[in-house]
Amino acid sequence: MYFLETERIGLRPLTADDASPEYLSWLNDPEVTRGIETGLFPTTPAALEAYLEAVSKSKSDLMFAIIDKANGKHIGNCKLANINWVNRNSQFGIIIGDKPSWGKGFGKEACSLLVNYAFEKLNLHKVWLIVYANNPAAQAIYEKAGFVREGCQKEQVFSEGTYVDTYLMAIFNPGSGAKTD
Ligand SMILES: CC(C)(COP(=O)(O)OP(=O)(O)OC[C@H]1O[C@@H](n2cnc3c(N)ncnc32)[C@H](O)[C@@H]1OP(=O)(O)O)[C@@H](O)C(=O)NCCC(=O)NCCS
Repeated sequence: MYFLETERIGLRPLTADDASPEYLSWLNDPEVTRGIETGLFPTTPAALEAYLEAVSKSKSDLMFAIIDKANGKHIGNCKLANINWVNRNSQFGIIIGDKPSWGKGFGKEACSLLVNYAFEKLNLHKVWLIVYANNPAAQAIYEKAGFVREGCQKEQVFSEGTYVDTYLMAIFNPGSGAKTD
């Protein structure tokens, strides 16, 4: 039973029960975390459980497990974070931690599914995100999902031994009177 789904993936709420050794290994895998803030410090099982506990109680963050429907495997997570119910915007985030699942279109599919939910069900006006300039796979999925670059913070993060720019990207709800021209 999924909260949101396409033919190939299902999204369900992420809970403290999801703190599996596999999930923990994603957060401590430099290949997975090279383009995100997670991974600067080691994540312990207790820290992961505490994080999931806090997120499940949050009123401003919605975190989903991404499930590959072909085998029922938990392959990653995506979220609408920092939901601002007055300004009607939220920050999108995604991690596909199961590396064999990379490059199969799951990231793009999860992104579009969650953005559609943000607009159609939650009536949000705008979804935004921050992506590292040295993370081309993430930029590719965001562009395919319709996100547009709206800003750049120069040398904002220290990543792989050098200072790297970050891009602000956003997508507007076409039905919410966006004034983007
Ligand atoms: C970024 C991430 C979500 C992408 O998920 P995914 O399921 O592998 O993505 P998809 O298969 O939907 O699409 C990947 C696209 O990026 C492209 N891509 C991959 N590596 C690339 C590279 N080095 N340069 C340019 N494009 C690249 C692929 O060609 C593909 O496009 P295509 O469908 O036209 O071939 C996943 O790699 C991930 O979770 N990485 C670790 C965490 C992370 O970086 N999260 C994003 C933080 S902003």
